[in-house]
Parts: sequence; structure tokens; C-alpha cells
Amino acid sequence: MYISEEEILEHISARPFRLVSEAADEMGVETYVIGGYVRDIFLNRPSKDIDIVVVGSGIELAKQVAAKLGRRAQLAVFKNFGTAQVKCGDLELEFVGARRESYSHDSRKPIVEDGTLEDDQNRRDFTINALALCLNKARYGELVDPFGGLDDMEELTIRTPLDPDITFSDDPLRMMRAIRFATQLGFFIDPLTFDAIIRNRQRIEIISKERIADELNKIVLSPKPSVGFKLLDASGLLPLIFPELCALKGIETREGIGHKDNFAHTLMVLDRLSRTTDNLWLRWAALFHDIGKPATKRFDARLGWTFHNHNFIGAKMVPNIFRKMKLPMNEKMKYVQKLVDLHMRPIVLSDEEVTDSAIRRLLFDAGDDIDDLMLLCEADITSKNPDKVRRFLANFQIVRSKLAEIEEKDRIRNFQPPVTGEEIMCTFGLEPSRPVGVLKEAIKNAILDGIIPNEHDAAYQFMLSRAQKMGLMPVKSDPEC
Ligand code: CTP
Repeated sequence: MYISEEEILEHISARPFRLVSEAADEMGVETYVIGGYVRDIFLNRPSKDIDIVVVGSGIELAKQVAAKLGRRAQLAVFKNFGTAQVKCGDLELEFVGARRESYSHDSRKPIVEDGTLEDDQNRRDFTINALALCLNKARYGELVDPFGGLDDMEELTIRTPLDPDITFSDDPLRMMRAIRFATQLGFFIDPLTFDAIIRNRQRIEIISKERIADELNKIVLSPKPSVGFKLLDASGLLPLIFPELCALKGIETREGIGHKDNFAHTLMVLDRLSRTTDNLWLRWAALFHDIGKPATKRFDARLGWTFHNHNFIGAKMVPNIFRKMKLPMNEKMKYVQKLVDLHMRPIVLSDEEVTDSAIRRLLFDAGDDIDDLMLLCEADITSKNPDKVRRFLANFQIVRSKLAEIEEKDRIRNFQPPVTGEEIMCTFGLEPSRPVGVLKEAIKNAILDGIIPNEHDAAYQFMLSRAQKMGLMPVKSDPEC
């Protein structure tokens, strides 16, 4: 992790940094770049948000810097918070005066007073986030690292600068942040820091669900998300923030027959899927795919353990859990719900003789999400038996090529009924009513079952003969109607 002085200077060489330096010297205030931007220089990660801390007024310095940058800069002042933001090109500089903070027990909102750089570093979450680089000309690029943040970075350690009970009790979101950084960066949480998370876990209740969801999203998007969920579990935070995932834990044995631990399985599926996709909601679908298993678990002397309809029950659970966790109640939720509902279909198909009709129905139900569904299902094969894995994956290949073949031929993915409800009503002189729905459904099924091609004329003829059986007669013979 060695970084030369030149490399550090390179990261603070852009014109806005130079202008901050100039303005700070003119005002006679100590100024530092601090927090995530400095940490990411040493970790060689890209970072655009730049936090500037001033031993004095952050707002005044921001105004001076914006004036020096001229028209290219946009200044926003947040007087109530004592902060200001200067945007210039793709750089965003946040200015704040150095603070000393004290917290009351039941709120994340601190009582804030002016402080020194040291006070400001003391109130930060982790040693690796408390590093500061001086921007005053005489000490330009000098690192101020009072808590051994650089050593912790070297040892891949997340540690709080102060007594962790104080740091976490002050702001319990930091417990999630510790686990998120460990997962994102591949770091370890120092044992004393981790023990404090266990002790303070209940305090997570004062944190808004939105902020918890933000951290969870970052864990889910990490290279190996299982690390974060195992830490959430080990710390006792998981049952407080996502009890339904916790409920997947454990193995029950009856009459010598056990079932797999669905928590471990789910995390394995999530990790496997994360190797093939960065799609956040597809990864969430992996977390949810077996969420209906505890509710559907039964033991049958003949069949052993069954989780009948767990996909259907799981899909029904998705909206409530999303609502509770303040995850978006929009098409993202619907997408996760759909994948949970359909996740058993390809595996059932791959187990049997694959019929064209079953393939068409899968294409129709999955629509444009069929490729994502296949990725999820392939990740779902976590058996330890290599022969079984090979057989399933080979069968999935057959399903995939059949899907491509049928889609090429029948264009089912974005299926639009070739005969519309309008046309049905017009042909038979019907108002919107049940027979219209029945005819529409019959046409759809005939196409999906391969009885007729996905074309207007064939569908129209099929509709006429089906309607006749229902005692309906066309009022017009013109198929253009
Ligand atoms: N910080 C803190 N406690 C928090 C949030 C932030 O002490 N709950 C401090 C840390 O010093 C952190 C800095 O504020 O480095 C900036 O916070 P933020 O922008 O939220 O996080 P980053 O560390 O920059 O990381 P990321 O952007 O990945 O969230």
C-alpha cells in the first residue's frame, strides 16, 4: 500500500485544490482534505466527493474558492448545517468548519461546537476515514494520521478512533458502515470494534430504514456480498433489519433426514450470481429467491422435507418486506417479485423433456427478464455433487438454446396478442365482458401451446371457431372491423 509523496501530491494537484490552498492562506485558516477522498487515494479507488475541513468557517472559505474559480463554479450554502458545496466540472467539494460533537442518547443529531482538527478527527467513524492532508502552502500534502489509519489500511483493519462503544452509540449507522466497508474493501473488523457492534446492536433502531437500505445496497453490490451478510448475522444486526433472511438459517433433521441450511445456500447463490452480474436488483432477487421456504417447510415420511410452492409464497412476501425495509415500491420490486415467482421454472424444465409449449410459456411469463432469470437459476445450482451440477448446467444449456430457437421463430418475449380485445368486441358486437376475456385467453393459450402460429389471420380464424362453440356469432364478417 506504499504511495509516494509525488503520488499523493498528484491527487491534490487539480486547480480547485490549489485555489483552496490560496484562499485558506489568504484567510489565515488551517485547511485539510479529509475522510473518504484521502482513504481512497491510499486504496487506489476513484473518488469524486471531496471533504474539506477548515479550522474556521467552512462557508467563508467556500465563498472565496467559488469567487476564485469564477463562472465555472457553482456554490451552494447550507447555513443551518454550517456547510457549503462548490461544484466545478466533475469535482464536488464539501466545506465544513472543524467540529467537536456531542450526542444525546436517542438521536443521531449531535450538538455541534467549533473545534480543532483533532476534535474533528476524533468524531469520525474509523481510523481509515480520519486521515487528513493539509492544503496550506507551507504543509501542502502533509498527512495527519493521529490514530494509525495508515497502519490499519496496511493491515486491512476497520477500527474506530475512540472507544468503539462511544463511536457506535453516537451514531449507530456506523455499525452498518463498518460491515459495509469490510465487505466492499475486503477488510477485517478489529475484534474490539466488532464486540462493540454486538453490544450496541439494538441502537440500530434509531436509524432510518432508508439509510440502512443504502448500506445494504452497497453490501449487495460488493464483490462478495456474503461477507457482509455473515457479519450482519454474527453481530446480531441481521434479525433487527432483515428477520426474513435470518429465518432461513438452520437445519432440521427428522427420521435421519435433514435439509440444507437455506441461509448458507442463499448467500452462496448471491456470491455465485455476483460473479456474473452487477445488476443490484437481480442480486436482491438472489437474496429473496428462497424467502418463502420457512413458511412452506413440511416433513413428509415418504417425500422427506418439502417446500411446496415456496416460490409463489416468497413472491407474495416481497412487497411487504420491501415496504418495511423502505426498498423501492416500484418496478424494481415487481422485477424481484417476478424472478422469485419464476425461479423454479427453468430447473423443472431442465429436469424433464423440454417441450416447445413449456418454453413458450416461460418466455411469455418472463418477457425481457428471461436472461436474468437464467442467470439466477444457474447460480442456484449449489449442489456439492459434481455430477449433478454438470447435468443441471448441461440441461440449462439445452433450455437456453431452445429459448433462443423458439424466440427466433415465435417472438414470444414481448408478446402482444395478434387479435385485440377491441377487435373481439367489434367482431361480435360485445361490450367489455367476460366472453371477451375468455376468447383473449383462449387465443393466447393456443399460441403458447403451438396450436396456431403467432399471427393475426390464424388467431382470427381460431377466435371465430372458438366463439361459435360459445354460441357467439360475428356481427360483421370484415376481419379489418
Ligand atoms: N463519517 C462518519 N460517520 C458517518 C458518516 C461519515 O464519521 N456515519 C465521516 C467519515 O470520516 C467519512 C466522511 O464522514 O469518511 C465522509 O462520509 P461519506 O461521504 O458518507 O462516506 P465516505 O467515507 O466518503 O465513503 P462512501 O462514499 O463510500 O460512503
